[in-house]
Amino acid sequence: MRPVLILDFGSQYTQLIARRVREQHVYCEIHPFSMPLEKIRDLDPCAVILSGGPASVFGDGAPTVPAELFELGLPVLGICYGMQLMSHLLGGKVERSDHREYGGATIKLESARGILAPFAGETELNVWMSHGDRVAELPEGFERLAHTPSCPFAVAANQEKRLYGVQFHPEVAHSERGLELLAAFLFEVADAKPDWTPAAFVESTVAAIKTQVGEGRAVCGLSGGVDSSVAAVLVSQAIGENLTCVFVDNGLLRQGEAKRVMEMFDGNLNLNVVHVDAAEEFLNALNGLDDPEEKRKTIGRVFIEVFEREAKKLGGADFLVQGTLYPDVIESVTTKGPSVVIKSHHNVGGLPEHMKLELVEPLRLLFKDEVREVGAEMGIPHDVLWRQPFPGPGLAIRCPGAIDAEKLRVLREADAILDEEIRGAGFYESLWQSFCVLVPVKTVGVMGDERTYDWVIAIRAVESQDGMTADWARLPYELLAKISTRIINEVRGCNRVCYDISSKPPATIEWE
Ligand code: XMP
Repeated sequence: MRPVLILDFGSQYTQLIARRVREQHVYCEIHPFSMPLEKIRDLDPCAVILSGGPASVFGDGAPTVPAELFELGLPVLGICYGMQLMSHLLGGKVERSDHREYGGATIKLESARGILAPFAGETELNVWMSHGDRVAELPEGFERLAHTPSCPFAVAANQEKRLYGVQFHPEVAHSERGLELLAAFLFEVADAKPDWTPAAFVESTVAAIKTQVGEGRAVCGLSGGVDSSVAAVLVSQAIGENLTCVFVDNGLLRQGEAKRVMEMFDGNLNLNVVHVDAAEEFLNALNGLDDPEEKRKTIGRVFIEVFEREAKKLGGADFLVQGTLYPDVIESVTTKGPSVVIKSHHNVGGLPEHMKLELVEPLRLLFKDEVREVGAEMGIPHDVLWRQPFPGPGLAIRCPGAIDAEKLRVLREADAILDEEIRGAGFYESLWQSFCVLVPVKTVGVMGDERTYDWVIAIRAVESQDGMTADWARLPYELLAKISTRIINEVRGCNRVCYDISSKPPATIEWE
């Protein structure tokens, strides 16, 4: 499988380029622009894509590549900054433009060859531009294939050497038919093979795990979420009984969750799962703690203690299965300032070094949507694959301040009603997350003729692509009204329901 190599110059869209390529069933990898030429050769790519980026080719220390890259005989597609850099390095002229062009534009097509082959017979194409500089003169051997009034070279190419540049972003959804242009680069220009399929991935990954683990024994922390489930099933296909999954019930799960997870794994997935009921241990450790970071750290610590104890009971293990995904693996080229811990995210797998477990990370090449496809290929049920994300510290961070069994009961019951109504109304899969929060404030209400003094429940429902930014969902009032009425009537201990209308940033999705 010869990959497409994407060299990243720091564009916010680089991962999107990779996903678009993979949607065409072509395997690709993202690497920093500084990847040495020998490494590029070793990778034996079938094509190279130069991403966009925020820099200007005139800037001090502008990111660049050796000009020999264009002499390897490989097809190259330069996108935005990638096009400018290619032109600059090959002797063309790039000029600064006084104003940034940002937004939709219509390009005039002058040729229907190469990457423009899909548009034969057409004269225009709507695309998404986002650039400051632009190419003013083409390098020798290049010709213009499309332009706009403000951008003389919107598409240009040296067709003989299979070098293409586009000033716009074909990878974003706003570029109509951008996918067709990318597909033409992959299949008409580059002769890429559409051999990156879920079935092929399962086959090669299972073989690779067999080689890595051999006769060794592996443990996997199962949360019931999509990543750990798919990772566990892949490893189990490779090593069968030598994999033991540990499902730690920390007493902070949603209503019925532990039972649902165990039933699913006991059923058709054929995994060897140990169910550890550690609710009491977690709740005791959390007793009286009200600081969010301290709560998270305590949950992380107890998780490790429980997991380590269970691994010992199994007679030890050599490998730990982790559901790391591709976005966590890609080396970022942006230079961010000192990172500030906003929330310390506890995830299954942050185990102590003394356990000396070698990692098995079967999903480290996959994007989230690909994990779902692979899961479906292996017969994992739809509801597991489309389950909303659920944080490791669970309901503890949806109950600000100190938690206790009574608050958890109120929260769980309210949350179960919300979940049922959201699913019933058909919103569950289109929302990134929907859940209840127990606001630790008591307010006065009246029920029948009686005065009540009970907790407040907040509803949080957000839309998001990746959890990094989010907006509150504009759920229908009727649905909110029904959820509110049901929670107040059915859950003892709650007499008021609010809807959280904060976006992220500046708020976060979870309340702690
Ligand atoms: P925030 O609250 O930071 O959440 O906007 C972003 C996404 O991350 C999830 N989240 C966590 N996941 N352990 C996890 O495994 C954690 O400690 C944790 N905290 C937040 C959150 O549910 C949302 O999807």
